[in-house]
Amino acid sequence: DTSREFQDQLLEWFAAHQRDLPWRRTYAPYAVWISEIMLQQTQMDRAVGYFQRWMERFPDIASVAAASEDEILTYWEGLGYYSRARNIHKAAQTLVREHDGVFPRTRKALLALPGIGPYTAGAILSIGFGQDEPAVDANVERILARLTDIDTPVKTKPAQEAIHTAARDLLPPGRCREFNQALMELGALVCRARAPRCPNCPVAPFCEARRLGITDQRPVPGKRPV
Ligand code: ADE
Repeated sequence: DTSREFQDQLLEWFAAHQRDLPWRRTYAPYAVWISEIMLQQTQMDRAVGYFQRWMERFPDIASVAAASEDEILTYWEGLGYYSRARNIHKAAQTLVREHDGVFPRTRKALLALPGIGPYTAGAILSIGFGQDEPAVDANVERILARLTDIDTPVKTKPAQEAIHTAARDLLPPGRCREFNQALMELGALVCRARAPRCPNCPVAPFCEARRLGITDQRPVPGKRPV
């Protein structure tokens, strides 16, 4: 069926084109967490160096929890949005105190940790633990808005509901670690906000906005109908 075809095309493309990134060596949930928080406001190329220095000094949750906040901030220096680093520190201490120093494996328990929202929780569950959970960031929102031609502003409730329904419906059971990363990678490399590279897109035949010739009008910006 259609979603099986879509999944196969996307996964095949990801296997061939994915970037070699340090957290893709082991997919330890801790490494997935740190990389995803770094990538929230930082470009990939810059994040990689910070990630490697961080992992040398703080190889696990316990080492983060035991460090001083000042030292944590030193390793974040230059990345900005320092609340991200403070939240990592607090979350590590909570994990040591309440979860034996390991990540809980449910969305609800992850969302209770400082700095972990729906996207990061979905990334830890799917990429770290291999669970069948969606991880929807701005890249994935954009892809799904184009693919399914969502014509309401992307941050409104109906658009978010359509995006989250599509994200769940498309998930390939047992292959969500690769699939969610493939969506993000597609958003970064092909289905870019401006100048998408549709001729290089492995799932162009499935894309409704492409069929209609309106990829530049999806996602619809803003919160209100215009
Ligand atoms: N951007 C944020 N998280 C990412 C990931 N896991 N893979 C590729 N790009 C990303």
